[in-house]
Amino acid sequence: MSELGRIAAAETAARLVEPGMRLGLGTGRTMEAVLRALARRVREEGLRFTGIPTSEATAARARSLGLSLAELDAPCDLAIDGADQIERGKLRLLKGGGGALLREKIVAESAARFVVVADAAKLVDTLGVGFPLPVEVTPFGHDATARRIAALVGAPVLRQRDGAPFRTDNGNFILDCPGFAPIRDPFTLDRVLRSLAGVVCTGLFLLPVERALVGHEDGRVEELLP
Ligand code: A5P
Repeated sequence: MSELGRIAAAETAARLVEPGMRLGLGTGRTMEAVLRALARRVREEGLRFTGIPTSEATAARARSLGLSLAELDAPCDLAIDGADQIERGKLRLLKGGGGALLREKIVAESAARFVVVADAAKLVDTLGVGFPLPVEVTPFGHDATARRIAALVGAPVLRQRDGAPFRTDNGNFILDCPGFAPIRDPFTLDRVLRSLAGVVCTGLFLLPVERALVGHEDGRVEELLP
């Protein structure tokens, strides 16, 4: 992971924001760098936009930086978000390492344009290799849902934090599923998982990505198009 690459990509992404935009704000460390770059543009250029946060953490950080926020009560012009993995060539994504996948996906789907920002370590040939697929499930019946995912050879593990099941901002649990790697057909896997009643959302983001801004250690930012 490259801190320099992440910051370079974040600054490039922040420059895409235009006055008056409704802007979806993703979650994670890369987005933290985007928020800082946006706050700088607000201070130095008087940029005005309305941010739509995808998590309580992003909302809190954006507020602490003085950014204006609103609910998702109208479509976003642009959404910017990080990723845990970006598939080279196709720009299909694996997300949810921070547990914000459901709100991230709702905001991304509402946006006219979706831009992904990451450091080069996130680029992979095949999704799932080296990162377990997060699946958000209802607390009710989560053991039963996990058994059904285990039967699909997902090898689900209930995500923990501080000795208790991790709760998403929506009050749900996360099953991290290393068993699906390598994910060669993410559309089918996503459909099969979502057909289980207890599954709320998967970390497979298969919607159109306008571009991925990928930052390298030398500060160069590569722009990948689908
Ligand atoms: C949050 O649930 C994730 O989808 C994040 O977008 C992803 O984990 C990227 O986070 P970092 O920028 O911290 O790597």
